[in-house]
Amino acid sequence: MCGIIGVTTSKRDNVVDVIIEGLRRLEYRGYDSVGIAVVDEQGRIVAKKAAGTIDSFVRKTDLSSIKGRTGIGHTRWATHGPPTDYNAHPHTDCNAKVAVVHNGVIRNFSSLRQLLVARGHRVKSETDTELIAHLLEEKLEESTSGVEALSRALHEIQGTYALGILVAGEPDKIYFARMRSPLIVGIGDGENAIASDIPAIISLTRRVLVLEDGEFGYITPHRVEIYRLTGDGYRRVPQNLVVSRIKTIEWTPEAASKSGYPHFMIKEIFEQPEALYATLSGSVEDPLVREAARIILGAEKVVVVGAGTSYHAGLVLEYFLAKLAGIVSYPLIASEYKVLEEAVGEDTVVVAVSQSGETFDTLEAVRTFKERGASIIGVTNVVGSALSREADLTLYTRAGPEIGVAATKTYLTQVLLLELLAVFAGEMSGRYDSSTTRRYLDVLSKAPITAKDSIEVGDPEARMLARRLVKPSMYIIGRGLGAMLAKEAALKIKEIAYLHAEAYPAGESKHGPIALVEEGFPVFVVATGDSPEVAGNAVEMRARGAWVRVVKPANYELELPSDVEVQATPPVDSHLLEPFSIIPFFQLLAYHTAVSRGYDPDKPRNLAKTVTVE
Ligand code: M6R
Repeated sequence: MCGIIGVTTSKRDNVVDVIIEGLRRLEYRGYDSVGIAVVDEQGRIVAKKAAGTIDSFVRKTDLSSIKGRTGIGHTRWATHGPPTDYNAHPHTDCNAKVAVVHNGVIRNFSSLRQLLVARGHRVKSETDTELIAHLLEEKLEESTSGVEALSRALHEIQGTYALGILVAGEPDKIYFARMRSPLIVGIGDGENAIASDIPAIISLTRRVLVLEDGEFGYITPHRVEIYRLTGDGYRRVPQNLVVSRIKTIEWTPEAASKSGYPHFMIKEIFEQPEALYATLSGSVEDPLVREAARIILGAEKVVVVGAGTSYHAGLVLEYFLAKLAGIVSYPLIASEYKVLEEAVGEDTVVVAVSQSGETFDTLEAVRTFKERGASIIGVTNVVGSALSREADLTLYTRAGPEIGVAATKTYLTQVLLLELLAVFAGEMSGRYDSSTTRRYLDVLSKAPITAKDSIEVGDPEARMLARRLVKPSMYIIGRGLGAMLAKEAALKIKEIAYLHAEAYPAGESKHGPIALVEEGFPVFVVATGDSPEVAGNAVEMRARGAWVRVVKPANYELELPSDVEVQATPPVDSHLLEPFSIIPFFQLLAYHTAVSRGYDPDKPRNLAKTVTVE
């Protein structure tokens, strides 16, 4: 949460436009407030910031009054202090000698604040970040270099941070530091950058270095210097090691732009066939997928952990591991990892799913389980993410950058990769031979076209149906795999369309939820091939006056009364294809409902794309 960017250039006169462009690409990380600071030609720090979106900031701020070749920017998702102009980043010290942008949470915030105020600092905001500026102000006076000052300040800070820092009088330097909040360095030609995420700097460079926890340093237009915090000091990371860590990433600037679509979310929904194709072709021959299956088979216990949509993808793995390989696994919501803590040990393999690879809860679960001796298989979309560094083995989805807050293409690519994993586990378990595996691979190769058909058929229908969703609440029910898909469908409707949607296994209706049903109450029934019994659940809902719409692949026969509506999705010849047939319809329904109500589907209220705080 919160996006930070910093650019220092020798080839442009002014860095403000590139920082604003980068902030637009980072807005999915938070959109409460925005700010920018540069070091101008006289070496002075000039900062502008405001509560609100980037568009409103650009409209109401005289950006022509800021000019410099080195600058930092921030888009905020508030933690300490409400979203006000004062609390927006960058934060400065008493004399505007230091400007700081920050993503993370400083744990010793209260004691630090008391200490600094007692020492005479004038703290202007309610944020934890401003304290870093004041602390650094002191350390700069006591130190012989900026690096030493920063190291001394970092030794007094507890918590999580990705920091970008300007110091007055140093017009070509941006200091940075990372501890458990994502931060990358972009290496350009005559200009370098730091950012929370790759999309922010993709139009500047595709050469990227991922910083590790405990690293700090600075960039100039031609240099990257990295240091590592040690017990009470720091040491320099040699240049040859720095250079060896630089990677060229495959993402393109076009992939991180709307390319003519009104919103990222709809663009990303439409990109799903391509993302599925890339994921499958990159994974089928990847020996690591088979290796992951082998690790799973060798474990006593299998835990599948993730948050939000990634947890829902994990449910699909639970389902197919049981069906194909006879393996019982335990799906676990990442923030609830303590439930299983004592049960996890060296006999456990943890499959951790996270598109960003930076979700705090998922990483906490992974680190805890790892300390207890578990093997970690990471599944992520971001090369070099924290999850990929924590995991013993990492599998990558190849969805490209996902900017919309709603996970869409990353979900279906996770599902595809996890299904592939289960297919291999099934063969290795001895339940079938390689010819059956080949048949399953043939099936999976139809995932992209199934998703494509689903989008084409579902888009106009979802657009029409969106206008009929007038009640504030709905149920989305299913059985078996259908119940798992229903959870993802409900999350999309809640977070994007702001309608209450509850998903639960349809058999539970009679144990309580059906009491809420009255005339016109919307109920979507997800019908998958494993559960023809949902027809009965649809009928019992309709009998109580519900508006019932059964969402099912067109070739599945269900006996339904004529007053139960049917949403036909593309036909499928295997359960493995059901997510690709059914889920795009719900993504589109959430999208069109949000748009028809005037909501911004890319920036749902109170949410940020990557949740890097507890
Ligand atoms: O980056 P991750 O996959 O770890 O993110 C997990 C959740 O925060 C994420 O899936 C969230 O639920 C999405 N907004 C859902 O659309």
